[in-house]
Amino acid sequence: MFDVNQIAVIGTGYVGLVSGACLSEFGLKVVCMDVDESKINCLKRGIIPIYEPGLEEIVVRNEKSGRLSFTTDIGEAVEHATVVFIAVGTPPQEDGSADLKYVLEAARSIAKCMNGYKIIVDKSTVPVGTGRKVKAVIREVLRERGVDYDFDVVSNPEFLREGSAVNDFMHPDRIVIGTQSNKARKTMRSVYRVLYINNHPFVFTNVETAEVIKYASNAFLATKITFINEIANLCEAVGANVQQVSNAIGLDKRIGKYFLHAGPGYGGSCFPKDTKALVNTGKEFGVEMSLIDSVINANDLHKLKMVDKITAALGDVEGKTIAVLGLSFKPETDDVREAPSSTIVHELHRRGAHIRAYDPAAMENAARFAFSDLPIAYAQDEYDCVAGAHAVVLVTEWNQFRSLDLEQMKSTMAAPYFFDFRNIYERRDVEEKGFAYFGVGR
Ligand code: NAD
Ligand code: UGA
Repeated sequence: MFDVNQIAVIGTGYVGLVSGACLSEFGLKVVCMDVDESKINCLKRGIIPIYEPGLEEIVVRNEKSGRLSFTTDIGEAVEHATVVFIAVGTPPQEDGSADLKYVLEAARSIAKCMNGYKIIVDKSTVPVGTGRKVKAVIREVLRERGVDYDFDVVSNPEFLREGSAVNDFMHPDRIVIGTQSNKARKTMRSVYRVLYINNHPFVFTNVETAEVIKYASNAFLATKITFINEIANLCEAVGANVQQVSNAIGLDKRIGKYFLHAGPGYGGSCFPKDTKALVNTGKEFGVEMSLIDSVINANDLHKLKMVDKITAALGDVEGKTIAVLGLSFKPETDDVREAPSSTIVHELHRRGAHIRAYDPAAMENAARFAFSDLPIAYAQDEYDCVAGAHAVVLVTEWNQFRSLDLEQMKSTMAAPYFFDFRNIYERRDVEEKGFAYFGVGR
């Protein structure tokens, strides 16, 4: 019954699917479960519902070998597993706090079909105290069922990034395991033995500390980005170059060079929601998180500042066509959740601009979710996108936008304005082709 090689993953989204697929690649037998039937049906046919480099290959290979399977039946997933991961969403509520209904519902469903000792591992990003809530829910259901199985609840937050999720899971900077049970700690080390053998750092803590580590990490990264964006605004005003500032300060090992790229503001399914949830947790415990609160406000303002920059250069955007290159919140993903493109496009539309947009992977999600309320013209490629436009606005730094044929673009545009919100072009190169160039902080 106690087989650490049998894993269940409840919730087969970005984190659940990547974790499940990578654990099966480590040689474990993994059953991924989701309540979304269409998602599971796709996966059973070898169709990957998200754009994530390297994932399809691993899913298909391990599905064929029988190590990875998919189901909507939670009983089937939990029955043979000792370790059950919860990887469902924790979306923001109106007040910014994390909505725990999916996590607690998953815990309830697991408890309903528990048939012996299990380790329930929370991989979703959850506010401190959730481990205790999960434990209480499971106890309650077991009591209702009249059974008395032993179980442990572990917090094992995930630090992967979309777009490099497989690599991040396989080569993590650290694996955080929050539990006070020796049995659970030993089992978790065994689940991750491939990483343990390869000397990836393991951090063992209690559940609460592990929960805080996840939010503290995301809030720190969001702060770093917001800090450099604020410096970028200053650089622009005084004629300095933020990229050189960022390179130079990053050489100080205490600061570090990563996450110091100025841009249009951070987005995605995590930083925006997790910073808000952290402030909310602070409120709940009577702790004012004024720094993180400022980061959230500064980031919101920074995104709007991008639109001011376009408006100031063009005089007015009313009736003008703006070509937007890149809609996903970052390259190599089709995820548009809280993408800076969404704020920028909505605000441009509000100011009367017509929008043409192109993204290599995210147009379907953009049309369904981020811009379902807007009349956007979706283009076939980057050149089709800019034809007839009064300005091109590069919002996401997809590789294919790094070597655009600027001459060809200019020849079809109504006006030569180039807004490079990811600083991927040299001003001189773009100006040489006859464009007016606007970066961020230089
Ligand atoms: P997601 O929305 O892509 O996937 C969540 C999945 O859970 C969905 O497929 C949904 O159908 C399923 N689900 C909901 N309730 C369920 C239930 N009761 N039983 C079974 N399945 C259920 O979410 P995601 O991006 O994978 O994020 C999951 C969690 O991981 C969040 O807490 C997030 O903050 C955290 N996280 C995300 C990332 C990331 O890059 N996306 C990275 C680290 C951590
Ligand atoms: C982020 C964290 O990096 C992961 O460690 C974490 O697991 C994840 O959130 C999560 O908790 O879900 P992700 O949101 O996928 O990952 O992507 P990032 O690469 O962190 O980018 C987030 C946003 O910051 C993007 O909009 C990106 O363009 C922006 N960014 C990033 C910058 O503007 N500048 C930078 O230097 C880096």
